[in-house]
Amino acid sequence: MQPYVVQNSLHALALLQIQGMAATKLTINSNGSVKIEGDFEIVDKEGRVYGLNGREIVSLCRCGQSSNKPFCDGSHKGHFEHEAVAFDLPPKKV
Ligand code: FES
Repeated sequence: MQPYVVQNSLHALALLQIQGMAATKLTINSNGSVKIEGDFEIVDKEGRVYGLNGREIVSLCRCGQSSNKPFCDGSHKGHFEHEAVAFDLPPKKV
């Protein structure tokens, strides 16, 4: 028997998949980080997993100024400008 929280997470994930929705959502924040939520893990270049201590939502630095990379520590504030507006990539080259 799985713990209640794990069971609920698995049920939520299955429901998202049935509805055709992505199990992981990345939000590109204007002038700041990338917020990740859903079902994910973050690994280093050797495949070692970053321990998130139960966090289900984290923000990754994309400005390069965090002292806690790859995670955002708020250092971007006032030092990074990028208005995040979604667009389509060109067709994939084959
Ligand atoms: S995006 Fe927040 S510190 Fe870089």
